[in-house]
Amino acid sequence: MEQELKNLEQEALAALNQIQQLDELKTLFTEYLGRKGKLTHILRGVKDLPADQKPVIGKLSNTVKTNLEKSFEEKQNNLEKSQIDKDLNAGFFDTTIPGKGREIGHIHPISQVQEEVERIFSQMGFAIMDGPEIESEYYNFEGLNIPADHPARDMQDTFFIQDKKDKKHGHMVLRTQTSPVQIRTMEKYGAPLRVIIPGRVFRYEATDASHDTTFYQVEGLLIDKNISLAHLKGVMAEFLTRLFGKPVKVRFRPGYFPFVEPGLELDFSCLLCKANGCKVCKYSGWLEFMGAGMVHKNVLKAGGIDPEEYQGWAFGFGLTRLVMMRYQIDDIRLLTSGDLRFLKQF
Ligand code: FA5
Repeated sequence: MEQELKNLEQEALAALNQIQQLDELKTLFTEYLGRKGKLTHILRGVKDLPADQKPVIGKLSNTVKTNLEKSFEEKQNNLEKSQIDKDLNAGFFDTTIPGKGREIGHIHPISQVQEEVERIFSQMGFAIMDGPEIESEYYNFEGLNIPADHPARDMQDTFFIQDKKDKKHGHMVLRTQTSPVQIRTMEKYGAPLRVIIPGRVFRYEATDASHDTTFYQVEGLLIDKNISLAHLKGVMAEFLTRLFGKPVKVRFRPGYFPFVEPGLELDFSCLLCKANGCKVCKYSGWLEFMGAGMVHKNVLKAGGIDPEEYQGWAFGFGLTRLVMMRYQIDDIRLLTSGDLRFLKQF
Protein backbone atom coordinates (compact mmCIF):
# COMPACT_ATOMS: atom_id res chain seq x y z
CA MET A 1 0.00 0.00 0.00
CA GLU A 2 2.81 2.31 0.91
CA GLN A 3 4.48 1.62 -2.43
CA GLU A 4 1.19 2.08 -4.25
CA LEU A 5 0.85 5.56 -2.73
CA LYS A 6 4.39 6.52 -3.66
CA ASN A 7 3.86 5.30 -7.24
CA LEU A 8 0.65 7.30 -7.45
CA GLU A 9 2.44 10.43 -6.32
CA GLN A 10 5.23 9.92 -8.87
CA GLU A 11 2.72 9.20 -11.63
CA ALA A 12 0.70 12.32 -10.80
CA LEU A 13 3.82 14.53 -10.63
CA ALA A 14 5.08 13.16 -13.97
CA ALA A 15 1.72 13.84 -15.59
CA LEU A 16 1.66 17.33 -14.04
CA ASN A 17 5.02 18.04 -15.57
CA GLN A 18 3.63 17.45 -19.08
CA ILE A 19 0.69 19.81 -18.70
CA GLN A 20 0.70 22.97 -20.90
CA GLN A 21 -2.85 24.23 -20.61
CA LEU A 22 -5.06 25.26 -17.72
CA ASP A 23 -7.97 23.07 -18.84
CA GLU A 24 -5.67 20.00 -18.97
CA LEU A 25 -4.64 20.82 -15.40
CA LYS A 26 -8.26 20.79 -14.29
CA THR A 27 -8.79 17.33 -15.81
CA LEU A 28 -5.68 15.97 -14.15
CA PHE A 29 -6.72 17.41 -10.79
CA THR A 30 -10.07 15.62 -11.05
CA GLU A 31 -8.30 12.39 -11.99
CA TYR A 32 -6.21 12.34 -8.80
CA LEU A 33 -7.73 14.70 -6.28
CA GLY A 34 -11.37 15.00 -7.40
CA ARG A 35 -14.24 13.41 -5.46
CA LYS A 36 -13.84 10.17 -7.42
CA GLY A 37 -10.08 10.66 -7.93
CA LYS A 38 -7.44 8.00 -7.42
CA LEU A 39 -5.99 9.46 -4.20
CA THR A 40 -9.41 10.23 -2.74
CA HIS A 41 -10.27 6.57 -3.35
CA ILE A 42 -7.25 5.44 -1.30
CA LEU A 43 -7.96 7.93 1.48
CA ARG A 44 -11.49 6.62 1.77
CA GLY A 45 -10.18 3.05 2.13
CA VAL A 46 -7.87 3.93 5.07
CA LYS A 47 -10.64 3.36 7.60
CA ASP A 48 -10.93 -0.31 6.50
CA LEU A 49 -7.21 -1.08 6.91
CA PRO A 50 -5.88 -3.26 9.73
CA ALA A 51 -5.28 -1.24 12.88
CA ASP A 52 -1.46 -1.35 12.64
CA GLN A 53 -1.40 0.01 9.08
CA LYS A 54 -4.04 2.72 9.57
CA PRO A 55 -1.83 5.44 11.17
CA VAL A 56 1.10 4.86 8.80
CA ILE A 57 -0.90 4.79 5.59
CA GLY A 58 -3.24 7.52 6.85
CA LYS A 59 -0.32 9.84 7.53
CA LEU A 60 1.39 9.02 4.23
CA SER A 61 -1.82 9.54 2.26
CA ASN A 62 -2.29 12.98 3.81
CA THR A 63 1.30 13.92 3.06
CA VAL A 64 0.91 12.80 -0.57
CA LYS A 65 -2.35 14.73 -0.79
CA THR A 66 -0.78 17.92 0.62
CA ASN A 67 2.25 17.57 -1.67
CA LEU A 68 0.12 17.05 -4.73
CA GLU A 69 -2.20 19.94 -3.89
CA LYS A 70 0.81 22.22 -3.49
CA SER A 71 2.29 21.07 -6.82
CA PHE A 72 -1.03 21.59 -8.60
CA GLU A 73 -1.31 25.09 -7.16
CA GLU A 74 2.22 25.97 -8.22
CA LYS A 75 1.58 24.64 -11.72
CA GLN A 76 -1.63 26.67 -11.95
CA ASN A 77 0.19 29.87 -10.95
CA ASN A 78 2.92 29.22 -13.51
CA LEU A 79 0.47 28.50 -16.28
CA GLU A 80 -1.55 31.66 -15.52
CA LYS A 81 1.55 33.81 -15.46
CA SER A 82 2.85 32.45 -18.75
CA GLN A 83 -0.59 33.02 -20.30
CA ILE A 84 -0.42 36.72 -19.32
CA ASP A 85 3.12 36.94 -20.72
CA LYS A 86 1.93 35.32 -23.93
CA ASP A 87 -1.00 37.79 -24.27
CA LEU A 88 1.28 40.74 -23.66
CA ASN A 89 3.83 39.54 -26.17
CA ALA A 90 1.18 38.77 -28.79
CA GLY A 91 0.12 42.41 -28.95
CA PHE A 92 2.84 44.41 -27.28
CA PHE A 93 1.18 47.07 -25.24
CA ASP A 94 3.20 50.02 -24.07
CA THR A 95 1.23 51.56 -21.22
CA THR A 96 3.31 54.75 -21.37
CA ILE A 97 2.07 55.77 -24.83
CA PRO A 98 -0.45 58.67 -24.57
CA GLY A 99 -4.06 57.76 -25.47
CA LYS A 100 -5.48 58.28 -28.96
CA GLY A 101 -7.99 61.11 -29.01
CA ARG A 102 -11.33 60.24 -30.60
CA GLU A 103 -11.98 62.29 -33.74
CA ILE A 104 -14.95 64.56 -33.30
CA GLY A 105 -16.80 65.78 -36.39
CA HIS A 106 -17.72 69.41 -36.88
CA ILE A 107 -20.34 71.49 -38.60
CA HIS A 108 -20.01 71.79 -42.40
CA PRO A 109 -19.06 75.35 -43.54
CA ILE A 110 -22.38 75.72 -45.39
CA SER A 111 -24.30 74.83 -42.22
CA GLN A 112 -22.08 77.14 -40.15
CA VAL A 113 -22.96 80.13 -42.33
CA GLN A 114 -26.61 79.01 -42.58
CA GLU A 115 -26.86 78.97 -38.78
CA GLU A 116 -25.34 82.44 -38.63
CA VAL A 117 -27.77 83.78 -41.26
CA GLU A 118 -30.68 82.23 -39.34
CA ARG A 119 -29.46 83.75 -36.07
CA ILE A 120 -29.21 87.27 -37.53
CA PHE A 121 -32.62 87.16 -39.24
CA SER A 122 -34.20 85.67 -36.09
CA GLN A 123 -32.85 88.63 -34.13
CA MET A 124 -34.62 90.87 -36.64
CA GLY A 125 -37.94 89.08 -36.07
CA PHE A 126 -37.94 86.70 -39.05
CA ALA A 127 -39.22 83.12 -38.66
CA ILE A 128 -37.34 80.24 -40.34
CA MET A 129 -39.37 78.15 -42.82
CA ASP A 130 -38.73 74.96 -44.72
CA GLY A 131 -40.22 73.34 -47.82
CA PRO A 132 -39.91 70.19 -49.96
CA GLU A 133 -36.89 69.65 -52.22
CA ILE A 134 -39.07 67.59 -54.58
CA GLU A 135 -41.57 70.15 -55.69
CA SER A 136 -44.45 70.39 -58.14
CA GLU A 137 -44.08 72.39 -61.32
CA TYR A 138 -46.96 74.53 -60.07
CA TYR A 139 -45.18 75.78 -56.95
CA ASN A 140 -41.78 76.01 -58.66
CA PHE A 141 -43.05 77.89 -61.74
CA GLU A 142 -46.76 78.61 -62.47
CA GLY A 143 -47.58 79.84 -58.96
CA LEU A 144 -44.57 82.13 -59.28
CA ASN A 145 -45.96 83.70 -62.44
CA ILE A 146 -43.81 81.61 -64.81
CA PRO A 147 -46.22 79.80 -67.23
CA ALA A 148 -45.12 76.66 -69.11
CA ASP A 149 -44.30 78.41 -72.38
CA HIS A 150 -42.81 81.54 -70.86
CA PRO A 151 -39.21 82.22 -71.95
CA ALA A 152 -38.30 82.83 -68.28
CA ARG A 153 -38.47 79.03 -67.82
CA ASP A 154 -35.17 78.83 -69.69
CA MET A 155 -33.44 80.83 -66.95
CA GLN A 156 -33.35 77.71 -64.79
CA ASP A 157 -32.66 74.32 -66.36
CA THR A 158 -34.69 71.78 -64.49
CA PHE A 159 -34.44 68.18 -63.37
CA PHE A 160 -37.84 66.67 -64.14
CA ILE A 161 -38.31 63.53 -62.12
CA GLN A 162 -41.73 62.29 -63.16
CA ASP A 163 -43.22 61.75 -66.61
CA LYS A 164 -46.83 61.72 -65.53
CA LYS A 165 -48.41 65.14 -65.38
CA ASP A 166 -50.87 66.24 -62.73
CA LYS A 167 -53.60 68.60 -64.05
CA LYS A 168 -52.98 71.40 -61.54
CA HIS A 169 -49.49 70.62 -60.29
CA GLY A 170 -47.79 69.46 -63.53
CA HIS A 171 -44.66 67.32 -63.30
CA MET A 172 -42.67 66.75 -60.15
CA VAL A 173 -39.30 68.51 -60.28
CA LEU A 174 -36.25 69.01 -58.10
CA ARG A 175 -36.90 72.61 -57.04
CA THR A 176 -34.68 75.05 -58.89
CA GLN A 177 -35.08 77.79 -56.27
CA THR A 178 -36.40 78.30 -52.74
CA SER A 179 -39.07 80.71 -54.06
CA PRO A 180 -41.85 78.04 -54.19
CA VAL A 181 -41.85 78.09 -50.37
CA GLN A 182 -43.05 81.73 -50.60
CA ILE A 183 -46.43 80.49 -51.84
CA ARG A 184 -46.54 77.55 -49.43
CA THR A 185 -45.89 79.91 -46.51
CA MET A 186 -48.51 82.45 -47.66
CA GLU A 187 -51.07 79.64 -48.07
CA LYS A 188 -50.35 78.29 -44.61
CA TYR A 189 -49.93 81.46 -42.51
CA GLY A 190 -51.53 84.30 -44.51
CA ALA A 191 -50.46 87.94 -43.91
CA PRO A 192 -48.58 89.57 -42.26
CA LEU A 193 -45.41 87.51 -42.71
CA ARG A 194 -41.72 87.86 -42.02
CA VAL A 195 -39.77 84.71 -42.92
CA ILE A 196 -36.55 83.38 -44.37
CA ILE A 197 -36.30 80.00 -46.09
CA PRO A 198 -32.85 78.45 -46.35
CA GLY A 199 -32.64 75.30 -48.45
CA ARG A 200 -31.07 73.11 -51.08
CA VAL A 201 -31.90 73.63 -54.76
CA PHE A 202 -30.96 71.85 -57.98
CA ARG A 203 -30.27 72.93 -61.53
CA TYR A 204 -29.47 70.92 -64.62
CA GLU A 205 -26.42 72.86 -65.68
CA ALA A 206 -22.77 72.46 -66.52
CA THR A 207 -20.57 72.88 -63.47
CA ASP A 208 -17.61 75.21 -63.15
CA ALA A 209 -15.79 76.98 -60.31
CA SER A 210 -18.86 79.06 -59.41
CA HIS A 211 -21.75 76.84 -60.64
CA ASP A 212 -22.87 73.51 -59.22
CA THR A 213 -25.93 71.35 -59.89
CA THR A 214 -26.76 71.30 -56.19
CA PHE A 215 -26.41 74.44 -54.10
CA TYR A 216 -28.09 76.37 -51.29
CA GLN A 217 -30.21 79.49 -51.38
CA VAL A 218 -31.83 81.66 -48.76
CA GLU A 219 -35.23 83.11 -49.62
CA GLY A 220 -36.67 86.06 -47.74
CA LEU A 221 -40.29 87.20 -47.67
CA LEU A 222 -41.87 90.11 -45.85
CA ILE A 223 -45.57 90.88 -46.27
CA ASP A 224 -47.37 93.61 -44.38
CA LYS A 225 -49.20 96.88 -44.89
CA ASN A 226 -47.31 99.91 -46.29
CA ILE A 227 -44.15 98.00 -47.11
CA SER A 228 -41.60 99.47 -49.53
CA LEU A 229 -38.18 98.63 -50.96
CA ALA A 230 -36.66 101.07 -48.45
CA HIS A 231 -37.36 98.43 -45.78
CA LEU A 232 -35.51 95.83 -47.88
CA LYS A 233 -32.50 98.10 -48.24
CA GLY A 234 -32.38 98.71 -44.48
CA VAL A 235 -32.82 95.02 -43.58
CA MET A 236 -30.13 93.85 -46.01
CA ALA A 237 -27.58 96.51 -44.99
CA GLU A 238 -28.14 95.56 -41.34
CA PHE A 239 -27.95 91.82 -42.10
CA LEU A 240 -24.68 92.09 -44.07
CA THR A 241 -23.12 94.43 -41.51
CA ARG A 242 -23.90 91.95 -38.70
CA LEU A 243 -22.70 89.01 -40.79
CA PHE A 244 -19.34 90.51 -41.74
CA GLY A 245 -18.88 92.52 -38.53
CA LYS A 246 -18.05 95.66 -40.57
CA PRO A 247 -20.25 98.42 -42.03
CA VAL A 248 -21.59 97.25 -45.42
CA LYS A 249 -23.44 99.37 -47.97
CA VAL A 250 -25.98 97.99 -50.44
CA ARG A 251 -27.24 99.25 -53.79
CA PHE A 252 -30.09 98.28 -56.10
CA ARG A 253 -29.91 97.72 -59.85
CA PRO A 254 -32.87 96.89 -62.05
CA GLY A 255 -33.31 93.13 -62.55
CA TYR A 256 -35.90 90.79 -63.96
CA PHE A 257 -37.66 87.92 -62.19
CA PRO A 258 -41.25 87.07 -63.21
CA PHE A 259 -42.42 86.80 -59.58
CA VAL A 260 -41.52 90.36 -58.56
CA GLU A 261 -42.53 93.76 -59.91
CA PRO A 262 -40.45 95.86 -59.87
CA GLY A 263 -37.52 93.44 -59.82
CA LEU A 264 -33.96 94.24 -58.85
CA GLU A 265 -30.50 92.96 -58.17
CA LEU A 266 -28.80 93.88 -54.92
CA ASP A 267 -25.04 94.43 -54.70
CA PHE A 268 -22.99 95.13 -51.59
CA SER A 269 -19.82 97.14 -51.15
CA CYS A 270 -16.62 95.12 -51.62
CA LEU A 271 -15.05 94.45 -48.24
CA LEU A 272 -11.66 93.46 -49.60
CA CYS A 273 -10.86 96.84 -51.13
CA LYS A 274 -13.25 98.95 -49.01
CA ALA A 275 -15.16 99.64 -52.26
CA ASN A 276 -12.11 101.22 -53.91
CA GLY A 277 -11.98 98.59 -56.67
CA CYS A 278 -10.04 95.29 -56.85
CA LYS A 279 -9.83 92.01 -58.79
CA VAL A 280 -12.61 90.36 -56.78
CA CYS A 281 -15.15 93.12 -57.45
CA LYS A 282 -13.85 93.57 -61.00
CA TYR A 283 -12.71 97.09 -60.03
CA SER A 284 -16.31 98.23 -59.53
CA GLY A 285 -16.30 98.39 -55.72
CA TRP A 286 -19.50 96.27 -55.67
CA LEU A 287 -20.25 92.53 -55.41
CA GLU A 288 -23.40 91.04 -56.93
CA PHE A 289 -25.37 89.41 -54.16
CA MET A 290 -29.00 88.57 -54.87
CA GLY A 291 -32.24 88.97 -56.77
CA ALA A 292 -35.19 90.70 -55.12
CA GLY A 293 -38.23 92.88 -55.69
CA MET A 294 -41.78 93.65 -54.66
CA VAL A 295 -43.85 90.44 -54.67
CA HIS A 296 -45.92 90.27 -57.88
CA LYS A 297 -49.70 90.60 -57.47
CA ASN A 298 -50.22 87.22 -59.12
CA VAL A 299 -47.96 85.58 -56.58
CA LEU A 300 -49.79 87.19 -53.66
CA LYS A 301 -53.05 85.94 -55.17
CA ALA A 302 -51.61 82.42 -55.62
CA GLY A 303 -50.76 82.51 -51.89
CA GLY A 304 -54.33 83.62 -51.02
CA ILE A 305 -53.36 87.17 -50.02
CA ASP A 306 -55.31 90.23 -51.16
CA PRO A 307 -52.87 92.51 -53.09
CA GLU A 308 -55.11 95.51 -52.42
CA GLU A 309 -54.59 95.13 -48.67
CA TYR A 310 -51.06 93.81 -48.39
CA GLN A 311 -47.81 94.16 -50.25
CA GLY A 312 -44.27 93.04 -49.57
CA TRP A 313 -40.88 92.15 -50.91
CA ALA A 314 -38.97 88.94 -51.50
CA PHE A 315 -35.32 88.16 -52.05
CA GLY A 316 -33.20 85.12 -52.87
CA PHE A 317 -29.45 84.82 -52.48
CA GLY A 318 -26.99 82.00 -53.04
CA LEU A 319 -25.90 80.73 -49.61
CA THR A 320 -23.17 78.61 -51.18
CA ARG A 321 -21.68 81.65 -52.91
CA LEU A 322 -21.83 83.54 -49.61
CA VAL A 323 -19.85 80.71 -47.95
CA MET A 324 -17.28 81.01 -50.75
CA MET A 325 -16.95 84.74 -50.13
CA ARG A 326 -16.78 84.26 -46.38
CA TYR A 327 -13.98 81.69 -46.47
CA GLN A 328 -12.38 82.74 -49.78
CA ILE A 329 -13.07 79.37 -51.43
CA ASP A 330 -12.26 79.53 -55.13
CA ASP A 331 -14.16 76.44 -56.36
CA ILE A 332 -17.79 75.77 -55.39
CA ARG A 333 -17.45 72.04 -56.11
CA LEU A 334 -15.12 71.56 -53.14
CA LEU A 335 -18.02 72.21 -50.76
CA THR A 336 -19.91 69.07 -51.79
CA SER A 337 -16.87 66.93 -52.58
CA GLY A 338 -16.83 65.27 -49.15
CA ASP A 339 -13.04 65.69 -49.15
CA LEU A 340 -11.97 65.76 -45.49
CA ARG A 341 -8.67 67.50 -46.29
CA PHE A 342 -10.77 70.44 -47.48
CA LEU A 343 -13.49 70.29 -44.82
CA LYS A 344 -11.10 70.06 -41.89
CA GLN A 345 -9.94 73.62 -42.59
CA PHE A 346 -13.20 75.16 -41.36
C1 FA5 B 1 -33.37 82.97 -58.19
O1 FA5 B 1 -33.20 81.75 -57.99
C2 FA5 B 1 -34.57 83.70 -57.62
N1 FA5 B 1 -35.46 82.74 -57.04
C3 FA5 B 1 -34.12 84.74 -56.62
C4 FA5 B 1 -35.20 85.68 -56.22
C5 FA5 B 1 -35.97 85.39 -55.10
C6 FA5 B 1 -35.47 86.84 -56.97
C7 FA5 B 1 -37.00 86.24 -54.73
C8 FA5 B 1 -36.49 87.66 -56.60
C9 FA5 B 1 -37.23 87.39 -55.50
P1 FA5 B 1 -31.13 83.29 -59.50
O2 FA5 B 1 -31.39 82.26 -60.53
O3 FA5 B 1 -30.41 84.52 -59.91
O4 FA5 B 1 -32.49 83.74 -58.81
O5 FA5 B 1 -30.34 82.59 -58.29
C10 FA5 B 1 -30.12 83.23 -57.06
C11 FA5 B 1 -28.70 83.01 -56.57
O6 FA5 B 1 -28.41 81.61 -56.55
C12 FA5 B 1 -27.64 83.58 -57.50
O7 FA5 B 1 -27.42 84.94 -57.19
C13 FA5 B 1 -26.43 82.76 -57.15
O8 FA5 B 1 -25.80 83.24 -55.98
C14 FA5 B 1 -27.03 81.43 -56.83
N2 FA5 B 1 -26.88 80.47 -57.96
C15 FA5 B 1 -27.56 80.40 -59.12
N3 FA5 B 1 -27.15 79.36 -59.87
C16 FA5 B 1 -26.18 78.75 -59.18
C17 FA5 B 1 -25.34 77.60 -59.40
N4 FA5 B 1 -25.47 76.85 -60.49
N5 FA5 B 1 -24.45 77.27 -58.45
C18 FA5 B 1 -24.33 78.02 -57.33
N6 FA5 B 1 -25.08 79.08 -57.03
C19 FA5 B 1 -25.99 79.47 -57.95
